[in-house]
Amino acid sequence: MESFSTLIRTASHEQHVEAETSTFMSDLLGGRLGVDAYARYTEQLWFVYEALETGTERLASDPAAGPFIQPELFRLASLERDLAHLRGSNWRSGLSALPATQAYADRVRECAGDWPAGYIAHHYTRYLGDLSGGQIIRDKAEKTWGFARKGDGVRFYVFEEISNPAAFKRGYRELLDAVRVDDLEKQRIVAECKKAFALNTAVFRALGEEFPLSA
Ligand code: HEM
Repeated sequence: MESFSTLIRTASHEQHVEAETSTFMSDLLGGRLGVDAYARYTEQLWFVYEALETGTERLASDPAAGPFIQPELFRLASLERDLAHLRGSNWRSGLSALPATQAYADRVRECAGDWPAGYIAHHYTRYLGDLSGGQIIRDKAEKTWGFARKGDGVRFYVFEEISNPAAFKRGYRELLDAVRVDDLEKQRIVAECKKAFALNTAVFRALGEEFPLSA
């Protein structure tokens, strides 16, 4: 039988393409957006990671989600440094979640609280993506808005404590393959992963509406 890591990757492939080719992402990667759009996007990420990384002490002892709680992945502190750079030391005062972001963060929090196996889907969708395509976004952001290489503004994309991302991703896939749930629960995790991608795409759509190019 197909391994779980292959299953979840294959099952979410279509949604990945959709997220990757969303208007907002294409405009961002095409260097067509101002730094304000990038800052607004980074603010949205803050809400998502706040939800992902709150309550992780409790999740760490869960048989299914526990092995995934690895502090070297945590992004909230890096996001806060980026936001201080992008918005100034008062960044918290202007912070607001788009409705799509609120819905995404709420769903993550719900899983973290009531369904640890479902939380794995959200963990996978964000962190494995950040370790992969995130590097392409970082490179583009540095070039477009002149951030120092791996410095303030793009620290979210820099995993200081992961020296070999490819090896880390291999280890992560092993964790997925060893996940301690039955086959039916694996199907539910895959379905939640698709939902996680859809929640991301909805945030991109909302950002695209806020930052239309030809307005
Ligand atoms: C323009 C934006 C994006 C680009 C260029 C991009 C690119 C990539 C690339 C090249 C990989 C393959 C890495 C590898 O095989 O080791 C990857 C994997 C992945 N990406 Fe993205 N990505 C983008 C957006 C996203 C978004 C928005 C999400 C979800 C929020 C996401 C989630 C993932 C996940 C979960 C994987 C791991 C797949 C697996 O191997 O299981 N990506 N991405």
